[in-house]
Amino acid sequence: MTLNSNQKTEKKKRETFSTGLAVFFATLGSAVGLGNIWKFPYLTGNSGGGAFVFTYLICILLVGIPVMVAEFYIGRKTRKNAVGAFTALKASPFWKIIGYMGAAASLFIMFFYSSVAGWVYSYVFKALTGKFGALAKKPVEEAVKTAGEEFSLTVGGTYSPVLWQFIVIAVVSAILIAGVQKGIERVTKTLMPLLFLLIIICDIRAITLPKASQGLQFLFNVDFSKINAPVILTALGLAFFKLSLGMGTMITYGSYFTEESNLMTTSARVAVSDTIVSLLSGIAIFPVVFEFGMKPGGGPGLLFQTIPLAFSRMPLGNLLLIAFFLLAAIAATTAMISMLEVPIAILTEEKGMGRTNAVLLISSVVFIIGAVTVHPESIFGGVTLLGKGFFDLFDYISSNILLPVGGLLISVFAGYFVSKSELCKELSNNGIIKNKSLINIYHFVVKFVTPILLIIVFLSSIGIIKLK
Ligand code: PHE
Repeated sequence: MTLNSNQKTEKKKRETFSTGLAVFFATLGSAVGLGNIWKFPYLTGNSGGGAFVFTYLICILLVGIPVMVAEFYIGRKTRKNAVGAFTALKASPFWKIIGYMGAAASLFIMFFYSSVAGWVYSYVFKALTGKFGALAKKPVEEAVKTAGEEFSLTVGGTYSPVLWQFIVIAVVSAILIAGVQKGIERVTKTLMPLLFLLIIICDIRAITLPKASQGLQFLFNVDFSKINAPVILTALGLAFFKLSLGMGTMITYGSYFTEESNLMTTSARVAVSDTIVSLLSGIAIFPVVFEFGMKPGGGPGLLFQTIPLAFSRMPLGNLLLIAFFLLAAIAATTAMISMLEVPIAILTEEKGMGRTNAVLLISSVVFIIGAVTVHPESIFGGVTLLGKGFFDLFDYISSNILLPVGGLLISVFAGYFVSKSELCKELSNNGIIKNKSLINIYHFVVKFVTPILLIIVFLSSIGIIKLK
């Protein structure tokens, strides 16, 4: 985040990103993360391939983009955190629930996200120490088995996954305390394109495999009969998770936007770029799955088994592997920073807590609860609640409940509690951008389409109406 130096020195005035490009990259830095390279492929694998991808794209268009624009509106208009923004808008105190639920969602996501990021960090280390070199020399079946065992070892140990999770949280906290926001912006600006490039190298590798077409067919062939209520709810949850929506992250980031930023085009650009990264990850992974006779529904280990397998069997494989996991680690780290910024901004701005204390408090909570719950061998590792282990439970409560409910409230707020002329003023930057008809379409979607779709999905997920 590059800060505008004039504004930095002016007392009390809030920081903003420096340029439109900085706004774009910082927002994309929040969106792109483990959601693209880990969660998107594994959920696609579990939920039937192309039908899931198709449903996901619809969710991005009809729910994701409209909610993102609404969050940007709330943030930039008020230049406040996710709770303070509603006070500034003179809304009834009820709406502050969006910020508080967002802070809760941030913690729930962090409990498991920091653990998966720990796996990624540990894979960087494993690749650096040449752990995957042996995969190249083994016959296919044995190599697949070894890759699977390596993943089980990573996830299942008593101490090492907790240690890696600790390292992840320590890194994120250190960056948040140091407030090296300038550094983060520079880092994301160079590394995002690099991550993109590496995924494309993975893609080239994947689509030149003999059985690539089976993988691509799995990913893109839409079998409409596979779309049912659980698939829609999962796709919707992923859309929120992916674009960091429904929990105030984009309200907080929107509050740092420049006056010139075009909220609608920024939102469309971020959503499209982020979706491209997810699809490219799918293209890198599914051909490998089919080539090596693995199962597309292999679950959370999919990324960690396919990528080492594919890379180990190509020239410069280990070097590419190191680079891939390093970039994935960085993408996960910048996403976590934006996630934690929500509760931290609330604690510092609303509760008057010092930044360092706020960071330490939040990260201790994340580490303590995360460490004793999400690892299979931890104290509560074997406990299930509502038929789910804690890892899945945290994921479910955040992605399938908190974020969509937050998104519903945000769209209802923007559609019914903000006057159309207010919305028009902010979305056109006081009439400078000539986008009146686009705003009309937007207003209709955020007022009728988005909330109604969300309500239908909710009602069907709790069994009140039946979609199919
Ligand atoms: N969008 C991030 C990802 O895909 C995760 C995230 C969710 C970040 C919510 C911030 C807020 O990995």
